[in-house]
Amino acid sequence: MKCILMNKNVEVLLADYDSATGVFIKVYDVYNIDYAPYILKSFYNSADINDTPFRTNLSGWFKGRGIPSWRDKLDLLLHRLNINAPCELLDKAFGLSLSDQYWLKPLNSNIKYEDINFFDNDFDYAEFMEASLSKNGSYIKNASSLITPNNTTDGMLKKAWIIENGTRYLLKGGYKNETLQPFNEVLASEICRRLGFDHVEYTLDTYKDTVVSKCPCFITKDTELITCHQIRNDMKRHDSVEDYEEYIKRLENEEIKDARIKIENMYIVDFLIMNEDRHLNNFGIIRDVNTLKWLDVAPIFDNGQSLNIEYYDEEELHISGEGKLFYEVKSFDEIIEVVKDIKRIDVNKLDGLVEWFDDLLHEYQHLTGYSDTRINRLCILLNRQINKLKKLVENN
Ligand SMILES: Nc1ncnc2c1ncn2[C@@H]1O[C@H](COP(=O)(O)OP(=O)(O)OP(=O)(O)O)[C@@H](O)[C@H]1O
Ligand SMILES: [Mg+2]
Repeated sequence: MKCILMNKNVEVLLADYDSATGVFIKVYDVYNIDYAPYILKSFYNSADINDTPFRTNLSGWFKGRGIPSWRDKLDLLLHRLNINAPCELLDKAFGLSLSDQYWLKPLNSNIKYEDINFFDNDFDYAEFMEASLSKNGSYIKNASSLITPNNTTDGMLKKAWIIENGTRYLLKGGYKNETLQPFNEVLASEICRRLGFDHVEYTLDTYKDTVVSKCPCFITKDTELITCHQIRNDMKRHDSVEDYEEYIKRLENEEIKDARIKIENMYIVDFLIMNEDRHLNNFGIIRDVNTLKWLDVAPIFDNGQSLNIEYYDEEELHISGEGKLFYEVKSFDEIIEVVKDIKRIDVNKLDGLVEWFDDLLHEYQHLTGYSDTRINRLCILLNRQINKLKKLVENN
């Protein structure tokens, strides 16, 4: 299919896209590289627009907006959607997403962004939600169920975009038999709320007896999320602390206000909940798609893989854990050292947090089946991290 890659209303490039494989076969013209996905700029060579790295990274970026091969229960989802591979979904709804404004406009069509984007235009989500989140979901029956931003969601967890009272919410489940992720998301939100950190507000919901987290879309039709992975892609790798400093400098050069403080806040949350999964697509910045101005650090999101989630053992309490700082895995005690100004944190605001979490876990015990021992151990871990943070604040 000959098509134009659009960024909202701006034409970015003209290319041939193969729907069956999800690959851009040829790039005919690049109209406006500034409005291209950020990661592509460093591969662009105006003298050779079919240069292999540019074209393969264009395809890689587009595929990366879709459902990944490591999505939990992908086989079931594909079966229920009656497709063979996630790439078949990529251009079903012009490639539109709720995390950015890129789309594929078939050449010579008169389609307008205003008429198709999912921020303004409603979409059917019931069948996709069932296919994605329910244990025994059925086949989708309506072709319209594939005209959805659910075709373009990244991440390993089962998830679904829904609409409630006009607001777009992302529902996320657990991973395989583990159901703690939604509770960790809500815990992170509560910590952020108490400490005054910018964050995506996660609440708990249930879908067919399964506990899921629910958060509103933090992108608008004037913005896009650019992840750290995209920003760092063309930067040299050093050790993780230097990478961290270089990233902050990059954001400060783009005049993002309080960039350091906001990134520090994210690592403070990770420390408190022992988040193992702060990979480079789990944070980033918000850019204005009209002016291309970098507006802000993205609010803290995706905190579910925490509190030693993978290492729970009914016999023994595992207290150690490791997090991620850029390209390195390190202990939380090491990572927290990047925070220069820790004295500004009023740890007293976390008083009662452990009891609050304990109550929350007990409230849902009939659905999760967590033993009292497990709930107790989760609370011990949280309490331990709060006390460690208190000491760090006192001793700095
Ligand atoms: N509230 C939101 N508004 C807009 N986009 C979002 C929102 N939440 C998540 N996203 C987008 O969806 C992607 C996947 O979401 P998220 O990271 O929460 O899923 P996950 O399955 O937990 O991911 P991972 O594989 O990192 O564990 C994010 O990287 C981001 O691009
Ligand atoms: Mg993620």
